[in-house]
Amino acid sequence: MPKDLTFTCSACAAKTSKWSGRCDNCGEWNTITEDKALTSGPKKKSLGGMRGNVITLTDLATQEKEPPRTKAGVDELDRVLGGGLTKASATLVGGDPGIGKSTLLLQAAARFARNGLNVIYISGEESNSQVQMRARRLGLTESPVKLAAETNLRDILTTLEVEKPDLAIIDSIQTMWADNVESAPGSVSQVRSSAHELTTFAKRNGMSVILVGHVTKEGAIAGPRVVEHMVDTVLYFEGERGHQFRILRSVKNRFGPADEIGVFEMTDKGLAEVKNPSALFLSERGAPAPGSVVFAGIEGTRPVLCEIQALVAPSPHSQPRRSVVGWDGNRLAMILAVLESRCGVPFAGLDVYLNVAGGLRISEPGADLAVAAALVSAREDSALPAEACVFGEISLSGALRPVAQAENRLKEAQKLGFTSAITPHQKKQVTVPGLTVRTAHDLAGF
Ligand code: TYD
Ligand code: MG
Repeated sequence: MPKDLTFTCSACAAKTSKWSGRCDNCGEWNTITEDKALTSGPKKKSLGGMRGNVITLTDLATQEKEPPRTKAGVDELDRVLGGGLTKASATLVGGDPGIGKSTLLLQAAARFARNGLNVIYISGEESNSQVQMRARRLGLTESPVKLAAETNLRDILTTLEVEKPDLAIIDSIQTMWADNVESAPGSVSQVRSSAHELTTFAKRNGMSVILVGHVTKEGAIAGPRVVEHMVDTVLYFEGERGHQFRILRSVKNRFGPADEIGVFEMTDKGLAEVKNPSALFLSERGAPAPGSVVFAGIEGTRPVLCEIQALVAPSPHSQPRRSVVGWDGNRLAMILAVLESRCGVPFAGLDVYLNVAGGLRISEPGADLAVAAALVSAREDSALPAEACVFGEISLSGALRPVAQAENRLKEAQKLGFTSAITPHQKKQVTVPGLTVRTAHDLAGF
């Protein structure tokens, strides 16, 4: 960074050499502030700080081994948290507005309170009576959860100092307002500053904090992403609007494995945990149909089977459509190219639609082979046997790559009544009684 640039826009982080009322880069007003260095002058050598406490790794042996955790008693939630809520941790729960975050966290608050934690639920969006009404609808009125409707950060921190809760839930971080920051609630600097104050307060006082963050239309700007690096655990609550399934996914967790999912079902009494998501995701599957393939996937540490649906139709457009729900569009383009150039199955002039049933979003490359099978099945208009499942990664050469946890996938498939599987060739082929496994080295081998 050049030395003479000493002003920064708090909205877009652009640097300038002089102050102005409006940022040239993003057009926001009153966002330019001066950067101040830690040393007060160029000649001053000492920073004036105090030496920090330095230890070596071996010293850790004498310290506390694992931070204490409290379980909610809801497996789907505890697993995603890495085995329960860790003391003095900061968690972010992000999701689209209206997806069910407040409902989830009010239910979680009640569970943690019942298990002995002193829990306070601070809402910046709803009044106390609105939260109470929600609690009544969810059947949680007997729970000893404290409520507060507050948005001023100074008042919130004072309340927390007095109440000394074990867990504070802040719904939502975008409504919080720090009076020492000169911008509107919901702006990047307000969100960042509020999250920073709350997480440092939590760490200092041995309190856990859960921040709720709405995913904004603009995506990264002032959304939960701004806060992700400040917290220990980042969870996203996902789901399709029209579906009753909701998935809580850990994308970062300092206290457990990431990519773990918890599956919930929306009911009029709130969220209910789904113990066997595979059975649920496959429950709406009808008779074998062209383009429908069951993918044996892994989400975190757990196998999850789901249905991948493809539709291929002649295109009326000069540029055929490629439409994907629940998977990566670039990955679909890659599979289509591999099918075309390595297996001689052309998709030119055809519209292609791909959908992961049930509102699940898959990110693992292990779904490649299932997608390819669905595409070919749709194109050839011939169905795969109903009791077959598929998994495997495809490389650009058309070769099939083995994927992790093959045995877990096969076992889950067998448990759900599948009798055959189509997979890449593994060096040490795993077998599961009652399941015939068909393997190949490359895509053209099938
Ligand atoms: P809400 O928790 O308010 O969403 P968010 O906090 O993410 O904006 O939920 C949105 C609406 O859905 C609300 O009217 C309640 C309703 N809802 C149910 O009826 N049952 C459920 O299981 C859930 C999760 C939500
Ligand atoms: Mg809400």
